[in-house]
Amino acid sequence: MQEKILAHFFYKYALAYEALNHIVHFPDLRKKWMDKLQIGPDDGRVLELGCGTGVSSKIFDKENVLSIHLDINEKFVRYGKKKKRFINGVVGTAYNLCFPDRTFDKIIFADAFHHVLDHERLFQECNRVLKPGGTFIVLDIVHKISAQTSS
Ligand SMILES: C[S@@+](CC[C@H](N)C(=O)[O-])C[C@H]1O[C@@H](n2cnc3c(N)ncnc32)[C@H](O)[C@@H]1O
Repeated sequence: MQEKILAHFFYKYALAYEALNHIVHFPDLRKKWMDKLQIGPDDGRVLELGCGTGVSSKIFDKENVLSIHLDINEKFVRYGKKKKRFINGVVGTAYNLCFPDRTFDKIIFADAFHHVLDHERLFQECNRVLKPGGTFIVLDIVHKISAQTSS
């Protein structure tokens, strides 16, 4: 219950979310991810899903990159735009994308894939809006779970 209240608080207030993100999600991690990706003008149209307040987006939203950044949380998108972390911020759900078929060359999920509940629907949508041969990229934290066996 306490967890639910906290989650509600952090997702309601972009500033609180930013502070938490800074503490638990190691800001350098995102930079490392994005530096490895090296998104540039040759990557064509890029769609970032679950962009949040744009902590990762700001690393690749450059003038020469055609990128769109989408999040379900309207407050986060507004905050990201205000902070100039991305230019093309869109409010919407990754399960029902408001883009025509075969629009993007790359789709990026940065620290957001673990939020996905309906994977089938998500993959259908991404497959629809990706151009043939397009790339689907997931950057996320993996928790090692040690299997426990009972004897
Ligand atoms: C941990 S945050 C990561 C934000 C950002 N990518 C970053 O690197 O800081 C996860 C984000 O996924 C968004 N999200 C969750 N479910 C979503 C959905 N169905 N469609 C779009 N965004 C979603 C949340 O609103 C949240 O902003």
